[in-house]
Amino acid sequence: MKIAILKESRSGEKRVAATPQVCSQWIKGGNEVAVESGAGAQAFYSDKTYTAVGVSAGTRAETLKDARLVLMVNPPDADTIKELPSGCAIASLLYHRSNPELVAALNAKNISAYSLDAIPRISRAQSMDVLSSQSNLAGYKAVIKGAENLGKIFPMLMTAAGTITPSRVLIFGVGVAGLQAIATAKRLGAVVEATDVRPETKEQVESLGGKFIEVKGAEVGSEGGYAKEASEEYRQKQREAVNKSLSMADLVITTALVPGRKAPILVDSEQLDLMKPGSVLVDMAAEQGGNCVGTEPGTIKEINGVKIIGCVNLPSELPMNSSDLFAKNIDALLKLIAPKSELLFDMEDEIVKGSLICHEGKLLQGETQQS
Ligand code: NAI
Repeated sequence: MKIAILKESRSGEKRVAATPQVCSQWIKGGNEVAVESGAGAQAFYSDKTYTAVGVSAGTRAETLKDARLVLMVNPPDADTIKELPSGCAIASLLYHRSNPELVAALNAKNISAYSLDAIPRISRAQSMDVLSSQSNLAGYKAVIKGAENLGKIFPMLMTAAGTITPSRVLIFGVGVAGLQAIATAKRLGAVVEATDVRPETKEQVESLGGKFIEVKGAEVGSEGGYAKEASEEYRQKQREAVNKSLSMADLVITTALVPGRKAPILVDSEQLDLMKPGSVLVDMAAEQGGNCVGTEPGTIKEINGVKIIGCVNLPSELPMNSSDLFAKNIDALLKLIAPKSELLFDMEDEIVKGSLICHEGKLLQGETQQS
């Protein structure tokens, strides 16, 4: 089958959905691969690196001609959808629950759409888990950004002029990104504390050398491994549990998300007042509304001497690694959905069932139709 890799239309996006390395494997497996000219340029994969392994590079129209499977990192925009061949398949981060119009437009063209963010988080799908591979890198980058914006170093330093005490880092939300942020801040020598509504994360924080801040006396359930929305009672108890650490923190990283909802506010204006001048808050939930009241996506704002960084698309800031892992995730998915260079659509498979959003003119996920 012909696989097409398109240039991303999202502004500022530097990632590409497939690297020459995976393309070479797909060609060896009997596929034809085409890349839109310049698609990999921002991730430092020139057209030449693709053509060297047998990929053809050309205009969008040339790339899409007779394509059976189209790959993109972000959802295609309306113009791109118009150009997609009817009846082809697409795999991308579609976020179908919040993009019903996009799904309807794809379905109207009889396109089979795989929403990579909807791949079930089961052990067998770990190698295809784009959300995890990208969050992992984002967690790393959030710490580096925080460190860059901090007027002090992370590790303890004993010098002839005196001793520098280590920086204190506080992390809200210990999912994939939060865990990598803990590990990165520890590696840089900081003293790290973290909290999460899911009590099972305590052990994970401690295994990375961090201190877990327990919120006692109120519980928030989880569903399918994801956190549910916290109650006001929990929020009050969380404030009491974290405020001392917040007032001592040099760097705060917030990563808390609740699927299908706006990100919860975890640092309100009273809590911001507790933070030290010169401290930094990196809000990784900025695009979902932010975990801090002062967050503005894509900006660095200063309130009472506290820098608040509203992160947008952190994985794109590490386009070499993020494209590489994204491509490897897609490669693992292809081994399942097209093991012999043909798309199978095995509806009995849990991974296909979870991530195939529309197929043969039918919407397959109930939530898509309601949202
Ligand atoms: P996420 O990005 O949806 O949320 C980040 C973190 O914020 C979560 O740990 C969540 O519990 C926490 N959070 C939500 N509301 C909060 C609040 N009010 N206060 C403090 N923390 C709050 O999470 P992510 O990284 O996508 O992971 C979600 C789940 O999926 C986790 O249980 C993770 O272990 C699991 N997972 C499983 C995988 C597998 O088995 N293949 C792969 C990756 C993740």
